[in-house]
Amino acid sequence: MKRVLLIVGGGIAAYKACELIRLLRKRGHAVRCVLTEGGSHFVTPMTLAALSEDKVYTSLWDLKDEAEMGHIQLSREADLVVVAPATADLLARMAAGVADDLATTLLLATDKPVLAAPAMNVRMWSHAATQRNVATLRGDGVTVLEPDEGAMACGEYGAGRLPEPDAVAAAIDRALAPVERRLSGKHVLVTAGPTHEPIDPVRYLANRSSGRQGFAIAGALADIGARVTLVSGPVTLPTPSGVTRVDVETAKQMAEAVERALPADAAVMVAAVADWRVDAAPQKVKKGSAPPALVLTENPDILAGLARHPSRPRLVVGFAAETEQVLEYAAAKRVRKGVDWIVANDVSGDVMGGDANTVHLVTANGIESWERLPKSTVAARLAERIADALEEPS
Ligand code: CTP
Repeated sequence: MKRVLLIVGGGIAAYKACELIRLLRKRGHAVRCVLTEGGSHFVTPMTLAALSEDKVYTSLWDLKDEAEMGHIQLSREADLVVVAPATADLLARMAAGVADDLATTLLLATDKPVLAAPAMNVRMWSHAATQRNVATLRGDGVTVLEPDEGAMACGEYGAGRLPEPDAVAAAIDRALAPVERRLSGKHVLVTAGPTHEPIDPVRYLANRSSGRQGFAIAGALADIGARVTLVSGPVTLPTPSGVTRVDVETAKQMAEAVERALPADAAVMVAAVADWRVDAAPQKVKKGSAPPALVLTENPDILAGLARHPSRPRLVVGFAAETEQVLEYAAAKRVRKGVDWIVANDVSGDVMGGDANTVHLVTANGIESWERLPKSTVAARLAERIADALEEPS
C-alpha cells in the first residue's frame, strides 16, 4: 500500500478530485487530503473525508493538529504528494517557494516526489507567466502533467482541462513504481562545473559552466543505484542525494581527484575544464603602465588521460561543447581522445546556465540526436544508456 497526500486546489475541477480519490483507493492506495481555502468553495471537507476515510486537513493554524502531527510530518509520511487540481495560482506559489497556507507549506517542507495536475482556463495555461512557472517546477523535479484539451467550464475551448481522473491515477502509479536500481554495485565517476585557474590571489580564469547538467547526471546515476563520485569545480548547486562530492578548484586538482577516485566502472566527464592555466602571481598584480601579459600553460586533458589510464573505466563518456560544426567536431573529438561516447551539445544558444539541452550521442555506431529536453531528462536517459552498456557482456 502506498500513501498519497492529495492537495485539492480551488478550481471547478476539484470535483474530479473526488473521483480520483475513489480510483486511488480502488488501487489499494491510502489517500490523505489537504483542502485549500479555494478548494473548499468547490468541494467540502466532509466529501473528501468520506471518500478517503481519513481526516481532511485545511488550516496551518489548527493548533490541535500541530500538537498531534506537525505539518512537516504530514508532508513526509506520504510516498507521493499530488496536487490536483493545480490552479495557476497554486503553481505560481509553488514555483516561487511561497508558504502562506497549509498546502504550500507542505509542498515546501516535503522530501517526497511531487506530481501536479494543472487545471485552468486556456489563456491562463498558455500565459507566459504560467509556462515560466511550469518550467521552473519541472526544473525543480516536480512532475507537472500536461492538461487536456477540450471545452471548458468557462465556455472557452483549449488546453487547460484537468486530465481525466484515470489518467491522473495512472500517472500517480508511474510515479509510485519502484525505481529499478540497475546500476547497484557499480561505481561511476562524474566531473562537473567549471574550473578556476588563478591569475593571482584574487583573480582567476573561468568559463560559464553552471554545473547543472553534470549534477543532474550524477543524481540520475545515483537514482538507479550507482555509487557516484562527483568531482565538482566551483558551483553553487546542492549535492544530489546519494552522491559523494569532491570539491576542487583548478584543473590540476580535478585531475588528481579523478585519479584518486579510480577504479570506476564508468566515467562521465561533464566538466568544462579550463584548457589553460596561468603562471599565477604570488601577490595581487597591481596596475602599472602596461597591462600584464598572462603566460598560459596547457592543462592536463583529464578525459584523454583517463581513456589511456591503466585503470581505464569500462565506459568513458566525454562531453563536447561546440558552437559550430557540432557533429563533425564531436566525432573527431571521440576518436582523438580515445573515449567510447561523446555527448555533443551546441552551446551557441542559452544552454550554459539554462534548464534545457539539445544533445547528440556520438558512439562508434553512429550519431543519435535527442530532441530538446530538460537537463534532468537528458541525465535520466544517459544514465539508462550507461546501465545498458554496463549490462552488455564485455
Ligand atoms: N576535458 C578534460 N580535461 C581538459 C579539457 C577537457 O577532461 N583539460 C573534457 C571535458 O570534460 C569534456 C571533453 O573533454 O568531456 C571535451 O572538452 P572540450 O573542451 O570541448 O574539448 P577540447 O579537447 O578542449 O577541444 P576544443 O577546446 O578544441 O573544442
